Amino acid sequence: MEVIIQPSADDAAALVARIVAARMRLKPDLVLGLATGRTMERVYACLARMHADHSLDFARCRTFNLDEYVGLAPDDPRSYRYYMNAKLFTHINIPRAQTFLPDGMARDLGAECRAYEQRISAAGGIDLQLLGLGVVGHIGFNEPLSAMQSRTREKALTPQTREQNKEMFNGDPERVPHRALTMGVGTILDAREVVMLVTGAAKARILAQAIEGPITAMISATALQLHPNCKVVVDEAAAVHLKGQEYYRWVFEHEPEWEEFRRSET
Ligand code: GLP
Repeated sequence: MEVIIQPSADDAAALVARIVAARMRLKPDLVLGLATGRTMERVYACLARMHADHSLDFARCRTFNLDEYVGLAPDDPRSYRYYMNAKLFTHINIPRAQTFLPDGMARDLGAECRAYEQRISAAGGIDLQLLGLGVVGHIGFNEPLSAMQSRTREKALTPQTREQNKEMFNGDPERVPHRALTMGVGTILDAREVVMLVTGAAKARILAQAIEGPITAMISATALQLHPNCKVVVDEAAAVHLKGQEYYRWVFEHEPEWEEFRRSET
């Protein structure tokens, strides 16, 4: 794992977008795993700008989102399908048929989850998976006690997660669905590369536990410590409790791999 500390949330998001762009230029038919949440909105705004300004071409890219609420239709403004269309897909040139999310309205949710895994495999697996971090330390909707080898499945959401995500539900956590379909921890670990973006002081404690604490099913993001190609991009506010800060900064400043990313630009 590598931790990259950027001065601000905007810089952190811009760096993540530049990593995506670099991978897409190398492999135009990139299979990209996507996440939702407020943190990601900045990344999607950057990608949309890169598409508009520099012709970043998404025509051959395929995307798989981490999760979707159970019981929300794609045209429901609170659904993650709606979020993705609004924040990213309508601003870039990806054919909608190449964008996938689990269907939270499926009659047979178990079958939908199995089919989702098959769709990912049929696409050749995920090349680059983007992640945010939930307040309980989840990735996707892998709530505490999610098995490290779990696959896409239905998961009950914790009260903390429903509280975190209440904004889209008139600020009322009781209106947030109790259940969601989510890629499993095992599904995420199968991605060839993982980039997690974490910003803001509110995530500082859980971030330190997730990346420097012991691996535990109570905090599904700790599973990323097992991944051989994982980057965690954070802003200064989220980084305050990291013990290894000095070392992480040194690595980013000196590793040849990061040379093209050190100049800040958006
Ligand atoms: C939801 C999503 C997660 C996301 C998290 C962070 O719980 N299921 O995938 O990482 O939100 O949200 P935010 O970026 O709004 O803090």
